[in-house]
Amino acid sequence: MSDMVLPPSFEVKRNKIIIPGMTGCFKIMHITDAHVSPDSPLDPEELREKAAEKRKSAILGKTGLSHEENLNILIEYGKSEGCELFVFSGDVMAFPSEGIVEYLLPIIKATGEYIFVPGNHEGGADKFPGYSSLMKQVAPGFEVREYPFFKVIGLDNNGGRLDEAAWEILKTSLLGDKPIILVQHRPITVEPLLTEFREIHKNVGFYFFGHKDNGYERREEILELLRDKDTSLAAVLAGHLHIGHEDNYPNGVPQYVTAPAFEGGSRIIEIKGE
Ligand SMILES: [Fe+2]
Repeated sequence: MSDMVLPPSFEVKRNKIIIPGMTGCFKIMHITDAHVSPDSPLDPEELREKAAEKRKSAILGKTGLSHEENLNILIEYGKSEGCELFVFSGDVMAFPSEGIVEYLLPIIKATGEYIFVPGNHEGGADKFPGYSSLMKQVAPGFEVREYPFFKVIGLDNNGGRLDEAAWEILKTSLLGDKPIILVQHRPITVEPLLTEFREIHKNVGFYFFGHKDNGYERREEILELLRDKDTSLAAVLAGHLHIGHEDNYPNGVPQYVTAPAFEGGSRIIEIKGE
């Protein structure tokens, strides 16, 4: 455990994934929904005003700090905990702009080994030159990090489609022997998460990957693989709902929805042998 003391409103959840036969221990820091909106002279006046409004409401939020401070504190905490991989599962920015992308680039890259998966708030960010360098993609919207005892896969599951090459890698990986940790912005509909979330939002279709209202080519095929009883999927890390929740797919695979970084939420996943 780290000696770093977090502000009292912050909450870092902790979970373990056991991989039989694995030697050593590996920690992943999961950060989602930071919604940063720093002021930047690179942005037009209109966007700077929009960002200023968001910063004002951030200070009135749960942590009393700016979204930028919340994000930086959580990253520092993850480093102090010895996390070897940082996963950002989307909506790290409040909205895409050149200034916000340029602000985030050094911060995300300084975490060392990381996976950056877009959320709906990153939609359109790819028109800014630095954005593509945030993702070391093996295919559009798709990343894979392979470790000796497991793989971590980042999947852009916002509206759209999955590239053919990425689909093949995903399929082969999920049908393979190596445990997979999947990082995606939108969680999959699973009870009782769905019941809890319906009390907050009526229109659940927008929020879940597994919902028919959320258009995504290959959605059914991907869901079928994730729900397969013989899948090598070990855990799913998601965000987007702005709540923290732990649940299991019908095949027993845990889905960890992590609370938003803008409220001081995050999660450390410890992967180890018995
Ligand atoms: Fe989102």
